[in-house]
Amino acid sequence: MKEIYILGIESSCDETSAAVVKNGREILSNVIASQVDWHQKFGGVVPEIASRKHVELINPVLKEAVEKAGIDWSALAGVAVTYGPGLVGGLLVGISAAKAIALTLNIPLIPVNHLAGHIYANFLTGDEINPPVICLTVSGGHTDLLYFSDLGQYEVLGRTRDDAAGEAFDKIARVLKLGYPGGPRIEKLARKGNEFAIDFPKPLLDQDHYDFSFSGLKTAVLNYANQLTQKGEELPMADLAASFQRTVADILIARVIKAVNTKGVKSVILSGGVAANSRLRELLQKELESLNVSLHYPPPILCTDNGAMIASVGYFLLQRGEISGLELNAVPNLHL
Ligand code: KG4
Ligand code: ZN
Repeated sequence: MKEIYILGIESSCDETSAAVVKNGREILSNVIASQVDWHQKFGGVVPEIASRKHVELINPVLKEAVEKAGIDWSALAGVAVTYGPGLVGGLLVGISAAKAIALTLNIPLIPVNHLAGHIYANFLTGDEINPPVICLTVSGGHTDLLYFSDLGQYEVLGRTRDDAAGEAFDKIARVLKLGYPGGPRIEKLARKGNEFAIDFPKPLLDQDHYDFSFSGLKTAVLNYANQLTQKGEELPMADLAASFQRTVADILIARVIKAVNTKGVKSVILSGGVAANSRLRELLQKELESLNVSLHYPPPILCTDNGAMIASVGYFLLQRGEISGLELNAVPNLHL
């Protein structure tokens, strides 16, 4: 069989990344230039800074990705690029680079939905995954619960009505002055805390749908912290982090279990930056084990934004001939 090498480009948020993936499943290189140092002091991603950094980083990142893969540019069968959802400035940098490569090498330009990328990160782990599955995508911008049966076949069961799960982690981390990105820092602090110390609300869980809401939880944590500060008391930082993290996990898991039972699937896949949270994985794994349902998740480096997941989707899209002309544009609010 002829090997198919796809170059994947990701620039929708604050990671500039390029990767080469063989036959949709084998990572030959996955270069990720994180811009986190430049955004940290602002407590979140500043779109204007992100665009400029993508411009600076894209060429060196692309060069390194192809070099590390140990192939020649001429071996590439296609170039896959995230065209949404995300920050328009960043998306345009990746798309422009992809067009230049497609034109120069005379290879197909493959437009990839970033959210499909997160799902397909699970196909790069060597795990045998047999759709249909329930997929929970939890990132800085998204909280989507899906019934996934094949590429392009996503039934959205539920979404967040306000903040995304990762956004909630980032906002709480800012309040606790932990810095950005919040998720990994809260997770670390939570290890030293009691997750049952503080009882936070779990909005919408009693209702008969699959949607999420995290803004009420965010307000509850804020109010709790403000009340203690006003009384001049010290914040129980670790307990706060642990109780918040546990509440988010409980909310997510309740919805996943409901979806598993309703749809009768045998596997669940996690994707997106928050899928890197080990407490979430542990608790979900335990619940699913008792139902005889398997749980799949990528290693942390494939949970957050990366080019390899984009290349993987690109491979499967190319098999179906789903490619684009050079008129491809960014779609910042693209849905699945
Ligand atoms: O998928 P991603 O890299 O970017 C988006 O597409 O949004 O996700 C980034 C989000 C951030 O909100 C970050 O705080 C969160 O994922 N995150 C985590 C963890 N690692 C990253 N949240 C909880 N626990 C973690 N270990
Ligand atoms: Zn993402």
